[in-house]
Amino acid sequence: MKQAILLTGATGYIGRRLLEEFLLQSENSIRVLVRNKSAFDGTLAQSVAVVEGNTFDKPSLAKAMEGIEIAYYLIHSLGSDDYQNLDKMSAENFRDAAIKAGVKKIVYLGGLGVVDENISKHLLSRIETGETLSAYAEKIDVVWFRAGVIIGSGSASFEIIRNLIQKIPVMITPKWVRIKAQPIGIDDVVAYLYNAKNPQISQSVTVDIGSEILSYGQMMSQCAQVMSLKRFIIPVPFLTIGLSSYWLNIFTPVPFRVARSLIDGLKSEVIVQNENAKKLFPQIKPVSFKKAVKKALKEAEENQVLSRWSDSGEDVWEIDHRNAIADAVFIDEQVVACPDVTQEQIFKSICSIGGKNGWFSYDWLWEIRGLIDKAFGGVGLNRGRRSQVELRKGDSLDFWKVIDIIPNKRVLLFAQMKVPGKAWLEFRIEKGKLTQRAYFLPQGIMGRLYWFSLLPLHYFVFRDMVNSIYKKASLT
Ligand SMILES: NC(=O)c1ccc[n+]([C@@H]2O[C@H](COP(=O)([O-])OP(=O)(O)OC[C@H]3O[C@@H](n4cnc5c(N)ncnc54)[C@H](OP(=O)(O)O)[C@@H]3O)[C@@H](O)[C@H]2O)c1
Repeated sequence: MKQAILLTGATGYIGRRLLEEFLLQSENSIRVLVRNKSAFDGTLAQSVAVVEGNTFDKPSLAKAMEGIEIAYYLIHSLGSDDYQNLDKMSAENFRDAAIKAGVKKIVYLGGLGVVDENISKHLLSRIETGETLSAYAEKIDVVWFRAGVIIGSGSASFEIIRNLIQKIPVMITPKWVRIKAQPIGIDDVVAYLYNAKNPQISQSVTVDIGSEILSYGQMMSQCAQVMSLKRFIIPVPFLTIGLSSYWLNIFTPVPFRVARSLIDGLKSEVIVQNENAKKLFPQIKPVSFKKAVKKALKEAEENQVLSRWSDSGEDVWEIDHRNAIADAVFIDEQVVACPDVTQEQIFKSICSIGGKNGWFSYDWLWEIRGLIDKAFGGVGLNRGRRSQVELRKGDSLDFWKVIDIIPNKRVLLFAQMKVPGKAWLEFRIEKGKLTQRAYFLPQGIMGRLYWFSLLPLHYFVFRDMVNSIYKKASLT
């Protein structure tokens, strides 16, 4: 029987993967609620109904809920300082709109863990969200999943573990590496969420999900084994949460804010508290940590990463890029004639820049810029690329974000590095010609000083980049 399903968080790490699962099975009618239509992958938009709105905009919620039987709540407000209040309000609005529209079931994924003196603000907020959604169990069923560390290609926790193992042979770690957790592979998480739609799951229930119990230190050792690397992990008592967050900020792709909130959550055990996963979903047998790591590494190697922790982020899409670019004060334009290559070849060459592929001759300058960004708590270059061969709208690309992509015609990147103003990098392809423009909209005097101080570097970097893109295109 075809069910009408509403999916929120479809641009996020979990939601995007769940959406793919629904589309793969193609037995349901899917609607997504997204904050910004332009952030939503155009190819996916052809297969589902899209409602633009958010959980704070009640009319958009009402529209999204119309005729829906099952509504998935896969969102959080972590990007804001006031996330605890926003999360509560968001959950209340969602629950009320669902009840009003006659939705039968809400499915929510929150964090695993118990309320104790060590509980992080983030986990507490995830628990409050679950409680808010479940407050009227007599009016609507709520299937509340709780997961700890999720292991999958592109998940923040896995990227942290992988980067630390890859980059540091002898690791001095804080005491918390001895704390136990119950990680779970992303495919299993998606399987639980997907199966929660089944009519047999017809009561409000909390379902804790996880695979085997491991300490964070054991996870790192097992990850090293899977990667065939010899690593030494030495726990010491003096590494504080703040210091650890800086450590992660430098060596892994996650910026300070994300590192801090993840480390905050490592102070207490995150162990499954009930057997409901086994009782209600006996067909799902979570894979081991090592198996999940192997799969994640394989996906990354084969450019099969479906979603990454850095995919979502409303602030980028709130900007009216077209008008902001029109207001840009500084523009560096480079044009190169490309008589002997096709537009497809140039497009392919542009789409290969960044990440492991680098930024041509001046990689070291980009590296320095990335380090400066990291020093200021920014994202730096470590985010790399989701896939080494393909770019899609919304992808993070080192410290850039893909804002617009028109095959064989245009690629527009927006700078997410710490910069006193707003910056874009645009590539336009016309017959026999490639135009590359760096736009900068400075903020105050610091912005202007920033641009002028970088002028000599820009001269070399941008000229080299456009010529190298053309050269690379002519070699394909
Ligand atoms: N990822 C993990 O490792 C993990 C582990 C345990 C539990 N969980 C839980 O899984 C759920 C999803 O997490 P995630 O990692 O997929 O998050 P994510 O990648 O940060 O994505 C969050 C999603 O929520 C959307 N969103 C945020 N506020 C919204 C609002 N007010 N209205 C509508 N949409 C809104 C975002 O849209 P934009 O694209 O517009 O920003 C984005 O699609 C969360 O409840 C989280 O606690 C995740």
